[in-house]
Amino acid sequence: MYVTVRRWTVRAGLAIAVAMALLSITAGPAKRRMALSALVLLVIPAGLTGAALWRSGVQASVLRADPEAILSDPALRSVALTNGEHVFAQHCASCHGATGKGDRTLGASDLTDGETLYGIGSVAQIEDIARYGIRAGNKHGWNLAVMPAYARKVPDAAEALPPQSPAQIEDLTQYILAFTNRATDAAAVRRGLAAYTKAGCWDCHGRDLGGDPAIGAPNLTDSVWLYGGRPEDIRRTLERGRAGTSPAFARVLTAAELRNVAVYTASLAHRRQDRT
Ligand code: HEC
Ligand code: HEC
Repeated sequence: MYVTVRRWTVRAGLAIAVAMALLSITAGPAKRRMALSALVLLVIPAGLTGAALWRSGVQASVLRADPEAILSDPALRSVALTNGEHVFAQHCASCHGATGKGDRTLGASDLTDGETLYGIGSVAQIEDIARYGIRAGNKHGWNLAVMPAYARKVPDAAEALPPQSPAQIEDLTQYILAFTNRATDAAAVRRGLAAYTKAGCWDCHGRDLGGDPAIGAPNLTDSVWLYGGRPEDIRRTLERGRAGTSPAFARVLTAAELRNVAVYTASLAHRRQDRT
């Protein structure tokens, strides 16, 4: 549809320009000046209207397209990224950072690393997160699990889990550090493995600590950390729990803005993957 609009605008613009040019050649100086100003007055707005029509045509196509196909279509990609970057700067950058690198004090994900808490990071999944949020009180959003607070008597509201003593939390921390070759106490790592089983960690993070994208439980074996991977960060996570929130923008952004920002966000991870 946008191609048709563009062709039509170009043809109309050309016709007007040719008519005006003929008039300015055949007419006297005064009429010539009038014709020239008319040319400017007509062609420029026609061009601008044409460009606006073209953009809104492409935007409509961005909404109709298969979300996963947009980044590989040059025209759709260009409009979605230009508009999406603007939405990101206004509504997402405050937590995820201007370049999408995230914020560990807020637990706001690094959106450029290609690792996802939920799903696989498809445009459609990102769009759902932008629309309905994570733990944002929207019934369509993600809210299946939180990280329990193991220093509390009742670590989790939803599931009966045993609290962990400060010594056990230390052992668990050593156990997790072992996966990135940073453990300093081998005996503590062994006790940590037992504690990991008894405390029910595996139920969410998996027996291999690989995480669970169906409930947003992070992988604990790599160097991607939501809240930081220093021993004190991990200890703090185990003691007091975590439950990061990404807002629901369903009532804030239009369907087009949500699609654009999802495409833009997906492109941040793609760019990184293209380089590696
Ligand atoms: C108030 C801070 C805040 C704002 C604003 C915000 N987010 Fe988030 N976002 C978060 C936090 C915190 C998380 C991690 C949630 C969790 O722990 O499960 C997150 C997670 C995400 C995820 C999942 C990332 C992953 O690792 O799987 C996506 C996608 C996302 N946000 C997109 C957006 C987009 C797009 C916007 C803007 C339209 C946005 N967010 C605005 C705080 C925010
Ligand atoms: C009920 C499910 C559940 C259980 C049980 C659970 N976790 Fe978690 N854990 C989560 C979720 C969900 C998150 C992410 C929280 C967020 O996104 O804000 C998380 C986050 C973490 C993090 C932070 C990772 C990062 O990238 O910063 C660590 C470390 C962790 N868990 C370790 C453990 C350990 C050790 C246990 C057992 C003592 C455990 N978890 C038990 C669900 C669980």
